[in-house]
Amino acid sequence: MKTLSVIDTPLHIGKSIELYGWVETKRDHRKIVFLDIRDRTGIVQVIGDERMKSLTPESVVLIKGLVKKRPEKLINPKIPTGEIEIEAQEFEVLSAANALPMPIDSDGYEIDEEVRLKYRYLDLRRKRMARNMRLRSQSVHFIRSFLMNHDFIEVDTPILTKATPEGARDFLVPSRLQKGSFYALPQSPQQYKQLLMVAGIERYFQIARCFRDEDPRADRAYGEFTQLDLEMSFVTQKDIMQLTEELFTKMILELFPDKKISQSPWPRLNHADAMKKYGTDKPDLRKDKKDPNELAFAWTIDFPLFTEQSEEDYFHGSGKSKFAPSHHMFTAPHPDDIKLLDTDPGKVRGQQHDLVLNGYEVGGGSIRIHDPAIQKKIFELIGFSEKQKGQFSHMLEAFTYGVPPHGGIAPGIDRLLMAILGEPSLREIIPFPATSGGKTSIMSAPSPATDAQLEELGISVTEK
Ligand code: AMO
Repeated sequence: MKTLSVIDTPLHIGKSIELYGWVETKRDHRKIVFLDIRDRTGIVQVIGDERMKSLTPESVVLIKGLVKKRPEKLINPKIPTGEIEIEAQEFEVLSAANALPMPIDSDGYEIDEEVRLKYRYLDLRRKRMARNMRLRSQSVHFIRSFLMNHDFIEVDTPILTKATPEGARDFLVPSRLQKGSFYALPQSPQQYKQLLMVAGIERYFQIARCFRDEDPRADRAYGEFTQLDLEMSFVTQKDIMQLTEELFTKMILELFPDKKISQSPWPRLNHADAMKKYGTDKPDLRKDKKDPNELAFAWTIDFPLFTEQSEEDYFHGSGKSKFAPSHHMFTAPHPDDIKLLDTDPGKVRGQQHDLVLNGYEVGGGSIRIHDPAIQKKIFELIGFSEKQKGQFSHMLEAFTYGVPPHGGIAPGIDRLLMAILGEPSLREIIPFPATSGGKTSIMSAPSPATDAQLEELGISVTEK
């Protein structure tokens, strides 16, 4: 049997129906009780008798009753079901709710975050959060169908894998079969997507989970986040920027009709100019920063290939060197600057493109190196030891069997939606985010392993 949704109740005027939902509110009027019953599609008014007095808010009920048109003067134009009400004949309490540990009828910003995350399953009942979850799902669906229509294919890449440095610490997973060895969770699918280009896929994408152990900020998740990861063969930076621009422009038009993109085509800023003019490579170009509906996209290009750092400081996971990659070590140098790699590496421009929205870096990508000799040179310049070079020998070898020139980009889904919706934190976008202390919502992982598990893995834990 098809379950009736709240939004469809007005189609059944004069008929008996059965309706499942939550008690959103209850108002007692002596012998009559008014309920608002909520499901995922909205709320509808139910009128019952004294038997309903004991119902608690947020209880789950089955209402059996008659759909009636409301008298003209009682019509509520503010809700889609405002022309009707349901006269309950019978009801069943399927699950009685205790008093909730926090209110869920507000937007929730005022509530302590620890409480919101401990009771995330209640927090997600909040109207704003339910809408964010729906828009997130619709956005991913839109992205998928747009890319499928542009001849991309979606390929899953492993989660238990080898380190791909993106500048954060790795999460390690111990191996039972090879004691003392560890998988790393991917900081991004960067190496696999390049290997898929060697495999002849030509147009790859993935809604990819990425894992990074880094200090959280409002716009930087601790632990895991999601990218739209994509890669194409035989393209220029312009092709990648154009495709991204078309994808998100259409997505915003369809799913976020209140939002206005302030400038189109999106301005392309030279890195040095942006630094000089705005003091940042991700300027907020909104004309009116108080307007919640303005979206100012921009591209930043012509980054230096390397950032220079002090002798003591060094890029995590690589050797000691003055030079660290601005984006990552697979980014191709500008073809006019190749000679400078030998003479003045600090002056080499990289073929990197960052996508900026309202002052956030919402995506990053580049044209990649496909010449093993240049890749080796970059490894040298960033100070890789022989051992470290060896960890990437599979890439150098793959590039000897016919590799197409390729490039791509990875917009962060969470950060992009946060910027589009004007939310103050990624936690308003991620269904089950980690707390600022790095514990998972609700379940409070991590937790200690049992002695038996540790023994099987050949691991002993030293108490500090
Ligand atoms: P990058 O490291 O620049 O590039 O990441 C791309 C985008 O991912 C998002 N992002 C994050 N979002 C939330 N929390 C985080 N901790 C976090 N870290 C990154 C941002 C960022 O712009 N492999 C390359 C992409 C490529 O070259 O194609 C990469 O991961 O929106």
